[in-house]
Amino acid sequence: MGRIELDGLTRKYGDVVAVDGIDLDIADGEFLVLLGPSGCGKSTLLRLVAGLIPPTGGRVLLDGEDITHAAPARRDLAMVFQSYALYPHLTVARNIGFPLRAARLPRAQVRRRVAEVADLLELGALLDRRPRELSGGQRQRVAVGRAIIRDPRAFLMDEPLSNLDARLRQSTRAQFRTLHERLGTTVLYVTHDQVEALSLATRIAMLDGGRLEQVGTPTEIFDQPASVFVAGFLGSPPMNLLPARLENLDGRVRVRADGIEADLRPGEPDGSVEGVEARDVVFGVRPEHLRLTDGTGRAGTPVLRGVVRAVENLGAEEVAQCAVGGETVQFRGARPLGLAPGQPVQLATAPDHIHLFDRGSGRRLVWRPHPARTAPATPRA
Ligand SMILES: Nc1ncnc2c1ncn2[C@@H]1O[C@H](COP(=O)(O)OP(=O)(O)OP(=O)(O)O)[C@@H](O)[C@H]1O
Ligand SMILES: [Mg+2]
Repeated sequence: MGRIELDGLTRKYGDVVAVDGIDLDIADGEFLVLLGPSGCGKSTLLRLVAGLIPPTGGRVLLDGEDITHAAPARRDLAMVFQSYALYPHLTVARNIGFPLRAARLPRAQVRRRVAEVADLLELGALLDRRPRELSGGQRQRVAVGRAIIRDPRAFLMDEPLSNLDARLRQSTRAQFRTLHERLGTTVLYVTHDQVEALSLATRIAMLDGGRLEQVGTPTEIFDQPASVFVAGFLGSPPMNLLPARLENLDGRVRVRADGIEADLRPGEPDGSVEGVEARDVVFGVRPEHLRLTDGTGRAGTPVLRGVVRAVENLGAEEVAQCAVGGETVQFRGARPLGLAPGQPVQLATAPDHIHLFDRGSGRRLVWRPHPARTAPATPRA
């Protein structure tokens, strides 16, 4: 078992609140990724769970037991860090088997478990090498092996792939996923890399300034970001976020700004929308959800009008930076987009792909683009 509950967990350093009252329930067998920018408190949170530093408030529970003040060695949690911290003078086999030898298990049993773990991590052929004779990815797998062999209740990993080059990161990521599927052990995993988070996590916890911004599956976090912060953190390039005004004009809800006109309910028969109040919003649309239009399409289609500033070649795709009103909008599509700097453009999107956030709080506004398919709903904070 390995259920981890955080209850108002807080850590201050003088005036800095590194971790600010986190409530989080991590189910047994979850792969929970803590995601956020540098300095948001990810490592501090992990170290609190590991017991490497004491909290200044709140509690940590492991399978219902309060371990807030338990010594790290008594927590039955295994940590894997960014730097592998292998013993340089020991072979791979002895590095992996170290925790079991330290626990004085019989030699035959240690040898059998090392063979099993090496097999799982495809390290069988490397057991007699020393760390300096391994690649970065192989070293990281040895460090993971040393954590696995203890059969802990949960793994705590702090940016374990960040020292690897892009290709190795991708293959090691795939191995981590397979490993989690086979072992089913709870993982609490820290990264600032959105691709790692989206591809590994069963749930992502987004942190900003020591606080939880959103907790959800990768799909929820990407498709329904709860705030401007989350929306702007994910995606490549991230979501376009533009100040705009939500208006209720002759019964139609419309978003307007310089160069933007988005009718949220095109084609609705009666067009009436009750209870929507005019307000300042942030209008969000992902670069990959824009398409070129000649402006002769169906009336009411959300449209952005601007001028191309630059076009960037990404290989299979291109990204065009466009000036829309006083803002920059990024538009991503298959290469060639057929655009050149200075050229006027009109970009359209589907109403389903529009995100709206309250300008003041930054929180997502809930609205339904297709009242014909779903129950009528009005935007609410
Ligand atoms: N020992 C310390 N003394 C004082 N302040 C600290 C200490 N450790 C961390 N902090 C502060 O706490 C905040 C959170 O730091 P933390 O290391 O948890 O961030 P992080 O999210 O892991 O960042 P990164 O992605 O850069 O590793 C930062 O503002 C940091 O400066
Ligand atoms: Mg860190």
